[in-house]
Amino acid sequence: MEQHKRTNSCGELRGPDAGKRVTLNGWVNRLRDHGGVIFINLRDRYGITQTVIDQDAPEELIKLAGELRNEYCVALEGLVRPRPASMVNPEMATGEIEVAVKKLVILNRCEILPFQIEEETNAGEDLRLKYRYLDLRSGGMQRRIMLRSQTACAVREWMSARGFYEIETPTFIRSTPEGARDYLVPSRLYPGKFYALPQSPQLYKQLLMAAGFDKYFQIARCYRDEDARGDRQPEFTQIDIEMSFVGREDVLAMTEGLLGHVFKKTLGLELPPRFKRLSYDEAMENYGTDKPDLRFDLPLRDFAPFTEAGGFQAFKDALAAGGAVKALVVPAGLMKTPYSRRQIEELEAHAKIYRARGLAWMKAAGAPGGGNLEASGGAEAPPLFEGGVSKFFTGAAGGGADLAEKIARGLGAGSGDLILIAADGKRKTANTALGAVRSKLGKDLGLTVPPGDGTPGPFEFVWILDFPLFEYNEEERRWEAAHHMFSYPQEQYHASLEADPGSVKGDLYDLVLNGHELASGSIRIHDPALQKRIFSIVGLGKEEAEEKFGFLTEALKYGAPPHGGIAPGLDRLVMLMAGESSIKEVIAFPKNSFAVSPMDDCPGEVDRKQLDELHLAVKGPDPSI
Ligand code: AMO
Ligand code: AMP
Repeated sequence: MEQHKRTNSCGELRGPDAGKRVTLNGWVNRLRDHGGVIFINLRDRYGITQTVIDQDAPEELIKLAGELRNEYCVALEGLVRPRPASMVNPEMATGEIEVAVKKLVILNRCEILPFQIEEETNAGEDLRLKYRYLDLRSGGMQRRIMLRSQTACAVREWMSARGFYEIETPTFIRSTPEGARDYLVPSRLYPGKFYALPQSPQLYKQLLMAAGFDKYFQIARCYRDEDARGDRQPEFTQIDIEMSFVGREDVLAMTEGLLGHVFKKTLGLELPPRFKRLSYDEAMENYGTDKPDLRFDLPLRDFAPFTEAGGFQAFKDALAAGGAVKALVVPAGLMKTPYSRRQIEELEAHAKIYRARGLAWMKAAGAPGGGNLEASGGAEAPPLFEGGVSKFFTGAAGGGADLAEKIARGLGAGSGDLILIAADGKRKTANTALGAVRSKLGKDLGLTVPPGDGTPGPFEFVWILDFPLFEYNEEERRWEAAHHMFSYPQEQYHASLEADPGSVKGDLYDLVLNGHELASGSIRIHDPALQKRIFSIVGLGKEEAEEKFGFLTEALKYGAPPHGGIAPGLDRLVMLMAGESSIKEVIAFPKNSFAVSPMDDCPGEVDRKQLDELHLAVKGPDPSI
C-alpha cells in the first residue's frame, strides 16, 4: 500500500490543481466506456472525481481497466487536467477537472452487489441492514453519519467551553425500574445475580451532583427493552446533562444555547434565542398531544358552548359525563378538493384508534354573516352547514340559523371549511383522538413537507411545561410517576401530594421538535424525606424503595445540592436535522423493527458452556403447547 497511498481525496481537486501528478484511493462509483475512452468515477467519503483512461493509453492499462466493476477498491495515479469547456460539470465539486490515469492498481475486487450503491438506495430494510457496510457507502448515509459526528462534536465543544465535565457512568448497573423493561446481564461470579444495562444515567448523574461536579454531561448510550418504532431503538444515545444550584429557567436557557450552537455549527441555521412554550394543559387542549407539531396551526377548539342549543345527544351526553366536545376546522384552502365521505371515514377510523366513539363532521356552506343570510330576507335562511351532523345545528331541528351562525363565528369557519368534532365523556380522550386526526391531516395535506428547495427544516421547537407529576394506571389501579420518580413536585403542591396526586404539577419539561419529543428533563428532588413520600405514593414500599434506591436517598442525606437536568436524544435530534422519519437512518448499525441485527444475526444463541458458566438454563418450548 505504501507506494499507492493517496495524495489527495476524491473530493478535493479543483481547476488550479491542473498539472499536478496525484494518487487517488477509492471505490469505482461508475464506469463508462465511450468508444475506447474509459471514464472511471472514483468515490470516497469526500466526494467523486472523474478519472479517464485515454484511447492511446498503454495496452496493459486498458486491459486492467477492463477488469474493473462497480465498487472495486482501487488506487489510481495520474495527471490532473482541466476538462474541456463543454465537459465542465458545475453540479460536481470536482467538476472542473479530471485525472488522466497513468497507473491503476486494483486493491480489492467486489463481488456482485446485493444492491446498487446510490445516493439513497431503495433496497428493503433488512437487506440494507444485512449489508450495512455497503448501505453506509451511499451518499445519503455518508452525509447523515457525518452530520451525527459533527453534532456530537458541536455538543462537546459548547458544553466544555461552559465548564461542563464529560464524565462516563457505568453501563453495568443495578436493575432499577425506570419506565421500560431492563436488559439484563447475568453475573458469572454471583449465581442468580444480574447487572442491568442503564435505561439512562439518571441516578448516576444525580450522584455526581451530590459529589460536587456541578455541571456534567455525557453522550451516553441507553438501553430499553421496548418495541422499536420510527423514533425508538432498543439502544440509543442521549446527550445527558445535569447541573447543580439551578432552577428550571437555567436548564431551559442552557438547552436553547446548546441547540442554537449545534444548528448554527452543523446546518448553518440560526434558531430563535428562546423557544415557544406551552403548558401541558394548553398543549392537550389546543393540539390534543404533549408533542404538538407546530409546523402547522389547526388548533382544536371548544365546541361545548354550542352543544346545549344543538340537538345531538352524543355531544350532550359527553358533557353531562364531565367530558368534552372538541372541534377542528379544516380550512377549504388547505384541501385540494373538498373531502369526500370516504376520506372523512378514514379520519374517523383513525380517531377510533385513539378510542374516539366517532368523528362527527359537517361542512360550512356559506360565510358567517355573509350576504346569503340577509339576502334571504330572514324568511327561510339557507343552512350554514351541510352534511354529517349539520341538521342538529342548523334550521328548525337544531337551534336555528342563529346557532349555526354562532358556531361559524365562534370557530372561525368560512365557506367550504370542514368541521370535525369529537365528543367523549373523558376530556383527554376527546382531545387525544382529535389531536391524532390533526396530526394525520398535517401529513395528508402536506403541511409538514420541507420546502423542497434543499434547505433543511422548518424546525418548530416548543417547550412543554408543568406536566402532571403522577399518572393513574387504570390497569394496576395505582399512581405512577409520569416521567420518573426523582422529579420535583412544584412547591405549591407539597402539602397536598398524598391527598390529591392527580392535580400535582411537577417541575418537568419536555422539548418538542416538529411533533417529536426531543428532550425530557426536570428539577430533581434533593430532600430525602420528600423523595420517600414520592416512593410511597407510587406504591414502592419502604423496603423495596430502600433496596432499589437506598443509595440515592442515602446520598441525598449528605448535603446533596439542589439540582436538575435534561436529556436530548441524540438520534432523534440528528434524525430531525436530517429531515428523516426513522432514527435508523442516522445510526451506523441499528437494529430492525424486531430488535434484530440481520448483519451479525444478533441476538444469537450461545453454547452450553457459556450458559453453564453463567449458571443459566434456557427454558425449552413448553411441551404442553
Ligand atoms: P427520557 O426517558 O424522556 O428521559 O429520555 C430522554 C430522551 O431520550 C430519547 N429517547 C429515545 N431515543 C431513541 N430510542 C428510544 N427508545 C428512546 N427513549 C428515549 C428521547 C427522549 O426525549 N433520565 C431522563 C432524562 C432526565 O430527566 O434528565 C430520561 O431518560 O429523545
Ligand atoms: P350515530 O348517531 O351514532 O349514527 O352517529 C352519527 C355520527 O356521529 C357518526 O358520524 C358518528 O361517528 C358520530 N358520533 C357518534 N358519537 C360521537 C362522539 N362521541 N363524538 C363524535 N362523533 C360521534
